Amino acid sequence: MDIYLKDPPPKYPIFIEGIRRAPSRGFRLSKPQTETALKNALRYVPNEYHEQIAPEFLDELFKYGRIYAYRYRPEGRIFGKPIDEYKGQCIEGKAFQVMIDNNLDFETALYPYELITYGETGAVCQNWLQYRLIKKYLECLTDRQTLVIESGHPLGLFPSPASAPRVIITNALMVGMFDTQEHWEIAQQMGVANYGQMTAGGWMYIGPQGIVHGTYNALLNAGRMKLNIGEGGDLKGKLFVTSGLGGMSGAQGKAMEIAGGAAIIAEVDESRIQTRYNQGWVRGYSNDLKQVFSDACAAQRDGKPHSVAYHGNIVDLLKYAIDNDIHIDLLSDQTSCHAPYDGGYCPQGVTFAERTEMLKNDREGFRELVDNSLRKHFEYIQTIVGRGTYFFDYGNSFLKAVYDAGVTDVSKNGVDEKDGFIFPSYVEDIMGPELFDYGYGPFRWVCLSGRDEDLTKTDAAALSMINPNRRGQDRDNYMWIRDAEKNKMVVGTKARILYQDGEGRRDIALKFNDMVRKNEVGPIMLGRDHHDVSGTDSPFRETANIKDGSNIMADMATQCFAGNAARGMSLVALHNGGGVGIGKSINGGFGLVLDGSGRVDEIIKSAMMWDVYGGVARRAWARNVNSISTSEKYNSGDNGHITLPFIPEDGLVENLINKHRENIK
Ligand SMILES: NC(=O)c1ccc[n+]([C@@H]2O[C@H](COP(=O)([O-])OP(=O)(O)OC[C@H]3O[C@@H](n4cnc5c(N)ncnc54)[C@H](O)[C@@H]3O)[C@@H](O)[C@H]2O)c1
Repeated sequence: MDIYLKDPPPKYPIFIEGIRRAPSRGFRLSKPQTETALKNALRYVPNEYHEQIAPEFLDELFKYGRIYAYRYRPEGRIFGKPIDEYKGQCIEGKAFQVMIDNNLDFETALYPYELITYGETGAVCQNWLQYRLIKKYLECLTDRQTLVIESGHPLGLFPSPASAPRVIITNALMVGMFDTQEHWEIAQQMGVANYGQMTAGGWMYIGPQGIVHGTYNALLNAGRMKLNIGEGGDLKGKLFVTSGLGGMSGAQGKAMEIAGGAAIIAEVDESRIQTRYNQGWVRGYSNDLKQVFSDACAAQRDGKPHSVAYHGNIVDLLKYAIDNDIHIDLLSDQTSCHAPYDGGYCPQGVTFAERTEMLKNDREGFRELVDNSLRKHFEYIQTIVGRGTYFFDYGNSFLKAVYDAGVTDVSKNGVDEKDGFIFPSYVEDIMGPELFDYGYGPFRWVCLSGRDEDLTKTDAAALSMINPNRRGQDRDNYMWIRDAEKNKMVVGTKARILYQDGEGRRDIALKFNDMVRKNEVGPIMLGRDHHDVSGTDSPFRETANIKDGSNIMADMATQCFAGNAARGMSLVALHNGGGVGIGKSINGGFGLVLDGSGRVDEIIKSAMMWDVYGGVARRAWARNVNSISTSEKYNSGDNGHITLPFIPEDGLVENLINKHRENIK
C-alpha cells in the first residue's frame, strides 16, 4: 500500500469571486518556528517539488499567518454528493467523504477556501494537503482498519476489528501548561494544531439547521420561564434582539420565526446577510435602524413571525433601542466571542472591512477596540435589562469575553469566573435543567443517498416514534418534526436535527436502521452536535448548570468519547475549545453509519444510551433534580445502574458551617 500525494502539484486554482474569504490573522512566528512551519507543510509534498512549492507556502505564511496550501484545493465547488458517487472499500469510508465535502460546500461553509466551516475559526482540517490525503485514506479504508486524524493530520491506517471505530479524530488537545490561546496560535501557525470547533473538525455539520432546533427550544423555554407565556404557548408578539448571521448564529431569525415571534439580528458583514436572505433565513434587511425596528414592531403588533437583519454593529443597535425607549423581550448575542481578538467580534465604530485590515496590520489596536466595545456593549445590556428585558448568554462566551475585557463586575462571585456570571448562560437557566438534565439533546441524521424522499420518510418515521403527551419537551419535539419539511431548513446535505432523550435517540436509530435494512431508504449517517448532555465539559456553557464544583473538570466528555469508541461508533471525535475557545472546553461527538446490519443494531442499543446517560448520571451526581428523577427511572429498568447522591436536609450543612464560621475565610 502506498498512500501519498505523489502526483505533480496541481495547477494553481482560480478563486471564484464573491466567495467569502478568511481574514489574515497576521504572521507571528520566530525564525526557527518559521523554518519548522515550512518543513512541516513540506512533509506532505514529494522532495522533487519542494523548490517549486516552498516559496509559495512561505508567501502564504507571511500573508495569512497560515499555510493553507491553496494550490491543492480541488477546482470548483466541493459539496456532499450522494454516497454512491464516492470511491471506497467500506461504506463508512464513503460516508465520511460526504460529510467532509458538505462541511466545505460554498453554501454551508463560512470560509470554504480556508477550510473553515463555521464559528470564525472552526476547520475541517488545517490545509488542502491534509484534505487530499484524508480523502485518499478514506478511499482505501477497509472495515478492518481505523484512520487516525490528529489536528487535521491523517496519521495513518491501523488494523482494528470490524467492531471498532473506522475514524478517530482529535483536535487541538494541548498539554495543560500550554493550553492557552497564545500557545495555540503559534502551534496553529506552525501547522500542528487545528481548531475543530465542534462539528467542523468532527465532520458532522449540517448547516445552520443544526442549531435551529436548539435555538428554538432555548427561545421558547426562555419565553415560558421569563415572559409568562405559559405552558404550550409560543412567542407571538414578542421581540428578540441579537447579533450574528454566521454559520450557527444564522439560525436565530428562523428559530424565532418558528417560535412565532419577531427578531432583529445585527450583522456587520453584508455578505453573510445576503447569504441568509437568499436562503430564506431572514425576510429582509436594512442599514436603517428606524426601518428595521418599524418592520419588526409592525410584525409584533400583528402577531406575525418575522425576522429582519440590521446591517451594522449590535452596539449601535442597542444604543438606538435605549435612546428610543423600545422594549425588547429577549436579548442575546451570537458574535464569535470564543475568539474575539481573532476577528470573531467586530468592535463598534469600525466597519467590517476595517476590522479585516486591522486584524492583519494592527492586532494590538484591534484588541483595544474590542475591549472598549465589549465594555460599552455590556453597559447597554445592563441598561436594557434594567428596563425589564431577559438577557441570556447564548453559548458564545460573550460574558467571559466581557470579563476578559476588564469588567470584573460581570463575575458572580466578584473574584473570578468559576461561579459564572451575573447574567445566566442559556444552559444554566434553560437548556440545562429543561433539556440536558433529562437527556434531551441534538440528535441528527443525514440521508447519504442525497434523496429528498429519504428525508421525508425518515421525518415521518421519527414523528411516529414520539409520544407528544409524555412531557412538554416531547410535545415541542413532535411539533418540530411535524413541521420540519414545511420550514425548509435544509442547506447542503439532506439532513435533520431533532432533540431527543436517550431512549428516543435509541428507538429512532433502531427504526432507521431497520428502514435501511428493508431498502425503504438508503444508508443514513447518525450523529449529533457536541453541544449536548454528555459530550461537552464547558463551565460557561454545556456544564454551566453543574454546581458541585466539578464544572472545571473534563472527565465526562473524555469518558463519553472513550465509551463511544469502545462501543463501535463509526467515528469518534474529541476537541479542545469547541464553541467557547481554546482551554475553555473539552468536547466530543460521534458519527454512526446505519447500513441496515444487525451489528449496527447492537451498537445502537449500547452506544446511544451510553452517549446520553453518562451525562445524565454525572448531572444527577451533581444533585440536578431532573437528572436524579431520570436516573431513578433508569435504575428501575434492567439497563444498568447509576450512583445517586444522598442529599442532606435543608439547613443541616448551612447551620453546621455557621457554627464554625470563624474557621472559614
Ligand atoms: N449556542 C449554541 O448552541 C452555539 C452553537 C454553536 C456555536 N456557538 C457560538 O456562537 C458564536 C457564533 O457562531 P457562528 O458559527 O455563527 O460564528 P460566525 O463567526 O460564523 O458568526 C458570527 C457573526 O457575528 C458577526 N459579528 C461579529 N461582531 C459583530 C458585531 N459587533 N455586531 C454585529 N455582528 C457582528 C460576524 O460578522 C459573524 O457573521 C461562536 O462563538 C460559536 O462558538 C453557539
